[in-house]
Amino acid sequence: MSDTIIKVSNINKSFRVGTQDVVVLKNISFEVKSNDFLIIFGPSGCGKSTLLHLVLGLEEPTAGTVTFFDKEIWRKTTEDERSEFRKKNIGMVYQQPNWIKSLSVAENVAFPLLLLGVDKTKAKEKAIEILKEVQMENWLGYIPTELSSGQQQKVALARAMVTEPKVIIADEPTGNLDYESGQELMKLLEKLNKEQGKTVIMVTHDLEYLDYSKTAIRMFDGEIAGTYQENEKEKLMDEMKSKRGNGN
Ligand SMILES: Nc1ncnc2c1ncn2[C@@H]1O[C@H](COP(=O)(O)OP(=O)(O)OP(=O)(O)O)[C@@H](O)[C@H]1O
Ligand SMILES: [Mg+2]
Repeated sequence: MSDTIIKVSNINKSFRVGTQDVVVLKNISFEVKSNDFLIIFGPSGCGKSTLLHLVLGLEEPTAGTVTFFDKEIWRKTTEDERSEFRKKNIGMVYQQPNWIKSLSVAENVAFPLLLLGVDKTKAKEKAIEILKEVQMENWLGYIPTELSSGQQQKVALARAMVTEPKVIIADEPTGNLDYESGQELMKLLEKLNKEQGKTVIMVTHDLEYLDYSKTAIRMFDGEIAGTYQENEKEKLMDEMKSKRGNGN
């Protein structure tokens, strides 16, 4: 791992709900290095998705800054620029994929390339190449919703990869999957990280997947409760075990 590609500095985020400001993220700072496999984990409601939205430029921090590839993505960009930036640099995978239901698997995967102005034939060729990488080349003509959840997530990953982004950001990508499909998806993410040098940022509340991480950030109640490098996994597991013992 070498250079820093994302720098989150002193982020606070609150939402106005009725007449009250609800604080969701408190003084969050961390850096993501190129080729990291970062897993952000913590209980439901602790602010993981909100944090990803800030990093993605989808949600504005109340205070603090996010720098992505040396660009301060909130204060110094327009919404169009942020959208363009995401299209070019980030592949996104969610718990529940959104499909264009009138399009086939291959066409859905090709779609982000069409948005970048790539011609239709080339986009489809590239989509098929990527679908082969995730072992989904036998399902090109299907409508995505005809596939199992595990198969859909592999197609969603192919769609995220088709523009060859440097960074893959995944919010609970295994949330709807059974054990086998979850592991299969994690292995694909690991392969992208190890063999293609992609930086992976993944959010989960499932401790099962921490083994795949190079860096892990534990969140609790809107704050970072711990950061762990690869050689500190044992310490992390011990901490989590003792927490469970305490009923936390
Ligand atoms: N737009 C919003 N307006 C008001 N409150 C919000 C908004 N978005 C998120 N929140 C609140 O922020 C808190 C954190 O939500 P967030 O979705 O980031 O949690 P999470 O860690 O991703 O949870 P989960 O594991 O269930 O996905 C929650 O209490 C939620 O209600
Ligand atoms: Mg969430």
